[in-house]
Amino acid sequence: MPSIIIRDLRIEDYDALIALWQESKLPFKPEGRDRKEKIGKEIQKSNAIYLVAQLDSKIIGSVFGTHDGRKGWINRVAVAPAYRRQGIAHRLIREAESRITNLGIEVIACLIEDGNLSSIEVFKSLGYSQNSPHLLYFSKKKHKEA
Ligand SMILES: CC(C)(COP(=O)(O)OP(=O)(O)OC[C@H]1O[C@@H](n2cnc3c(N)ncnc32)[C@H](O)[C@@H]1OP(=O)(O)O)[C@@H](O)C(=O)NCCC(=O)NCCS
Repeated sequence: MPSIIIRDLRIEDYDALIALWQESKLPFKPEGRDRKEKIGKEIQKSNAIYLVAQLDSKIIGSVFGTHDGRKGWINRVAVAPAYRRQGIAHRLIREAESRITNLGIEVIACLIEDGNLSSIEVFKSLGYSQNSPHLLYFSKKKHKEA
């Protein structure tokens, strides 16, 4: 029985990662923050906990954990449709959480689109709770595709 490993993202995984996000219908910014050279630079930084799930030579899951020294963030959780409901998202998120909490960070957060029920259930089942139904997400971008 082949086993799934959770490991750090390498830049050689980039095309497989993009294919996974496309297959998972995860919104991403190929001309902006998700372009290859940008991710290549980010994975060299100490606060990038970018992980993939690998089965044999296939990338079947991803999570991007980050932190700002105060709060941790979980982003880009995706599992290929054929491998869902096997606990792979749990494993990915738990590994990212463990690396973040080992740094002494006590709060981990994520942003979930309203209506993304599978994602809501995954995070609820890991002990996350919604802080306020009234929070609005604001951001400021250097350019439209960022
Ligand atoms: C969300 C997603 C990552 C879940 O991946 P997964 O590997 O299937 O999740 P897990 O197997 O670890 O699920 C763990 C638990 O979460 C809950 N859960 C997961 N998917 C669920 C669903 N579709 N409906 C209800 N509960 C669900 C269940 O409690 C599940 O435990 P169980 O299977 O024992 O009942 C996957 O559905 C996906 O890639 N979705 C598209 C991309 C996306 O929306 N990402 C999130 C962005 S915030």
